[in-house]
Amino acid sequence: MERRQFLRVCAASAAAGATPALAAPDATPRFYARVRLVDAGGARLRAATVPVRRNLLFHYPFATTPCFLLNLGRPPKASARLRTADQRAYEWQGGVGPQRAIVAYSAICAHQLTYPTRDISFISFRGERSARNPHADVIHCCSEHSQYDPAEGGRVVAGPAPQPLAAILLEHDARSDELFAVGTLGGEMFNQFFAKFEFRLALENGGAARRAVEGQATVMPLENYCRQQVQC
Ligand code: FES
Repeated sequence: MERRQFLRVCAASAAAGATPALAAPDATPRFYARVRLVDAGGARLRAATVPVRRNLLFHYPFATTPCFLLNLGRPPKASARLRTADQRAYEWQGGVGPQRAIVAYSAICAHQLTYPTRDISFISFRGERSARNPHADVIHCCSEHSQYDPAEGGRVVAGPAPQPLAAILLEHDARSDELFAVGTLGGEMFNQFFAKFEFRLALENGGAARRAVEGQATVMPLENYCRQQVQC
């Protein structure tokens, strides 16, 4: 814009009493306890042993909030610029481990909070396309078909979800090859999740719906946690 034109715009704004809209502050990482990921036998999970393109589940940062751990088997985008539903910007910076291909996301759908329970899961990573899923390699929620790209920070690629899945921040110890969860990035849905399901979660977990995970979190194949997986 030329200087004269810029001054005209400023003068018009001043005359109209306009005040510039303030941008929402960026979404910053939220750190919780640093938790070691272990397998079902309690052994430390090594990045080199995480199977490729397989749904793995753990709970973090609360004992009742499920997360997917995925080895994409290829390098994801180096970074992705994303926004929460309330327009807070943030930058997801890829995965960890070999090829930076190991990523983690909250498994609580950003649309209406569908999540994997012990009985059934409507949401999971799908490597293949299907009639209801035109995209391969996405996290797909069968409730209303929101789809998220785990190679781009959980970006919404289809469906009604108003924001990406919240990313779980991982650390990889290059010397020991161990993996740790340390926090979240993006639009957490935990408050809404507890508000909607707290009674059920408390019943299922002896009243400890909001117990924070400390020390270690057990990673298991989704099919070992959940009796039925809905495919769509
Ligand atoms: S709850 Fe997942 S798409 Fe609606």
